[in-house]
Amino acid sequence: MCDKIYFDNQRFNFRNIISNFLDEDLEKLHKTYKFEPRFLDMVAGKNEYELLKNIYKKIITTKTFIALWDLFVKETIKPYFDNEKILYQKIPSLRIFPSHHSVQYVEKITEGFNKHQDSDAPFFHPKFETNFWMPLTECDHNNDLYYQNNDWFRRVDIRTNEIFVFDGETIHGNRVHNESFNTRCSLDFKALKLKDYDTSVLSDKLVTKKGQKYKQKDWYSTQYYYNEL
Ligand SMILES: [Fe+2]
Repeated sequence: MCDKIYFDNQRFNFRNIISNFLDEDLEKLHKTYKFEPRFLDMVAGKNEYELLKNIYKKIITTKTFIALWDLFVKETIKPYFDNEKILYQKIPSLRIFPSHHSVQYVEKITEGFNKHQDSDAPFFHPKFETNFWMPLTECDHNNDLYYQNNDWFRRVDIRTNEIFVFDGETIHGNRVHNESFNTRCSLDFKALKLKDYDTSVLSDKLVTKKGQKYKQKDWYSTQYYYNEL
């Protein structure tokens, strides 16, 4: 399942919030900031750019940002689920894919891509979740997200007022090497109808996050990972 939804990116201008904080266009971040290492191994989330950690600390985890996030979910994501009760990721995940840098996200690289399903090790996302991906920069074929559609592994190719929606079975991933002249930034997050949350599919298998291990049933518990709306 793949879908596309529109949102008001002037009202919910996550792009500008981050860009203003960094005082640089997001596409040009690699010109102002140093991203080390050039080849980032973030398998199981064990490494991350310092700049990204700083944006989480100073922006994404602030009350102001979270208030806007909650409002965005209420007005954009809840209607997607027919305005039924939903669970959604408490704060979105921000990704930075710097120009002329490489990021390895999964253990096994496939044809130059970080191809994976979110239900794969090491994150073991439950299949009842739906994925939402929002580019904060215009993408090109070198830095875009790709997904499997029938026999094709194709670009998502959406604009910055659109969100790509896909289920947990969809194979997706960007290139390992970003050969574009532009840095790509994006937000992604999970959500689902509350009635689809099912503890019987959660187990003791170990999820690895930031190099630490957690039981799947604890990590994806309603209290810990999601907000209800
Ligand atoms: Fe993924």
